[in-house]
Amino acid sequence: MMNKIYVVGGGPGNIDYIIPIAMKKIKEADIVVGGKRILDSIDIKGKEIFIIKNNLNDVIEFIKKNYIDKKLVVILSGDPGFYGMLEYLKRYFGKEMLDVIPGISSIQYLFSKIGESWNDSFFCSLHGRDVDIVDIVKKNRKVGVLMDNKMKPEIVAQILLDAGIKEKTIYLGQDLSYENEKIIVGTVIDISKITSDGLSAMVIIDGV
Ligand SMILES: C[S@@+](CC[C@H](N)C(=O)[O-])C[C@H]1O[C@@H](n2cnc3c(N)ncnc32)[C@H](O)[C@@H]1O
Repeated sequence: MMNKIYVVGGGPGNIDYIIPIAMKKIKEADIVVGGKRILDSIDIKGKEIFIIKNNLNDVIEFIKKNYIDKKLVVILSGDPGFYGMLEYLKRYFGKEMLDVIPGISSIQYLFSKIGESWNDSFFCSLHGRDVDIVDIVKKNRKVGVLMDNKMKPEIVAQILLDAGIKEKTIYLGQDLSYENEKIIVGTVIDISKITSDGLSAMVIIDGV
């Protein structure tokens, strides 16, 4: 039988939040493919490593060349199916070739930390996407937001303020699960005044 490609959720970053079956697949792998940040937290000594950067074509070529003969695991941050590379991998290999192991998403982790359920929430990512955050926040009582180094929390808060949205509480999670994790709770005005750095996710909830 042909080898499958294991696509494994690496969780928010701290190894304590990688589920055991994911660790088992990583231990059994000959080759691991993944972003440097997530690989840095995991013991992958002795394995062949391929780092995902701005080299998506090379990633696909590398996987194509290697997965048939060797056990290959792609480790993606958080959950592979939540704004991760799963859709991209499916385009090249199809679902049948992939064995997806879930991970704890950064936003799921943040919801837990602030003691809120997420079944009644709307989710979006502002990473390189054309998303109308004002419209989303107006229409939804709870919104989970992923960001990137351009769409920072203070910029998103300013966009909301410019649209007249003030009556919201923002829970901002930075570097979640790491030792330097910070969770800041504030109004839209409070968050618009911060200067943020690093990885950020936010939960925006009605009321102040
Ligand atoms: C390409 S998305 C991947 C999301 C991932 N699949 C997940 O389920 O968390 C990357 C974004 O996730 C968020 N993120 C990932 N890890 C994080 C962490 N440890 N702390 C805060 N935000 C994080 C940030 O908004 C970051 O820009």
